[in-house]
Amino acid sequence: MRNIQNLLDLNKKKILLRLDLNVPIKNGKILDSTRINKILPTINFLLKSNAKIIILSHVGRPNGKIVNELSLKPICENLKEKINSEIRLVTKNLKEINSNNLFINSDEKILMLENIRFYKEEEENNYEFAKHIASLGEIYVNEAFSCSHRAHSSIHEIPKFLPSYSGLQLETEINALKKITSEIKRPITCIIGGSKISTKINIIKNLIHKFDSIVIVGGMANNILEYKGIKIGNSIREKNCNKIIEEIFNISQKANCKIIYPEDVVVGNDLNGSSKVKELNNILKDEMILDIGPKTIKKIKDIILNSNTILWNGPAGYFENINFANGSFEIAKEIAKETKNGNLYSVLGGGDTVSVINKIKLFNNFNFVSTAGGAFLEYLEGKDLPGISALN
Ligand code: 3PG
Repeated sequence: MRNIQNLLDLNKKKILLRLDLNVPIKNGKILDSTRINKILPTINFLLKSNAKIIILSHVGRPNGKIVNELSLKPICENLKEKINSEIRLVTKNLKEINSNNLFINSDEKILMLENIRFYKEEEENNYEFAKHIASLGEIYVNEAFSCSHRAHSSIHEIPKFLPSYSGLQLETEINALKKITSEIKRPITCIIGGSKISTKINIIKNLIHKFDSIVIVGGMANNILEYKGIKIGNSIREKNCNKIIEEIFNISQKANCKIIYPEDVVVGNDLNGSSKVKELNNILKDEMILDIGPKTIKKIKDIILNSNTILWNGPAGYFENINFANGSFEIAKEIAKETKNGNLYSVLGGGDTVSVINKIKLFNNFNFVSTAGGAFLEYLEGKDLPGISALN
């Protein structure tokens, strides 16, 4: 894998730069801009080298349709301010653009193409679509480690048509994860949460052999509770998961890996509402599980105390509402404390996990923080990531 610093002459070269600007946005406001901050060195390097930058990114999951709330506009504005340079958001249909009419004039330095997932061809990893986008640039740069587990056009297919390089942050993330996986100290615990159940549930099965304990919180824990016969009311859950959960428990028993899931919970009637601690046998039909309860927090803290390495990916609850943030905050504080005391090597990953630790100003209290969620877990599984193998 070559990084962009290997490129000697970038003067006026058109760079297709794939970023992961998938940041949390509410009512047009960016709630956490860590992913934007992390790519600034690459943008500044390209600007200094007098390259012309064409930014590609997605935000959210618009499923191949134009969804106004998922426009990159607020992100474009945020980035503009940070680099103190003009960026034009190109909203025109990409298929009607060609390399001659893309930049308006020779002074224009940076363009951002509107959410690439507005086109269904992106997630289909469509060859013609990738070929067309590739024709807009001369060099491709992947600065989106957190998307590199997706075999999508802008990640996996475009590099087939252009000389391709990694961005500075992508290289940093891979080097750090390589180091962690080769120098890990046991006992090692993985805490997995968040709401992307379908992305993560299959991964757990393959992680069991690598860990002494796996703590499952967040949306996925609802599926486990339901599998165990608990009535989970109106909580989010994934359909048809019982077989995979059964496998998770069977494999973990053989591999001597403890699976820990909530013993009590915090529920609410809606995401913006108030909270109530509940025992598992007492969840009502119209209630949603939105956080872990105090007994579960205590249990997780004990596990953290008895671990030498912790990997944490995905919050324990709907932390966006302060009433359901306690579980995630308590986990973060305990890991930070033990890391500071030198008792623990801690690695955190995922956009939402990063938002949690930013909210309580703990970002610099861990050994390594990756912006990647699903990609981080798949890397730990030892899988080939489509975006990385495409660069190789
Ligand atoms: C992420 O947030 O992990 C990446 O942007 C990938 O998003 P996805 O899970 O919607 O593919």
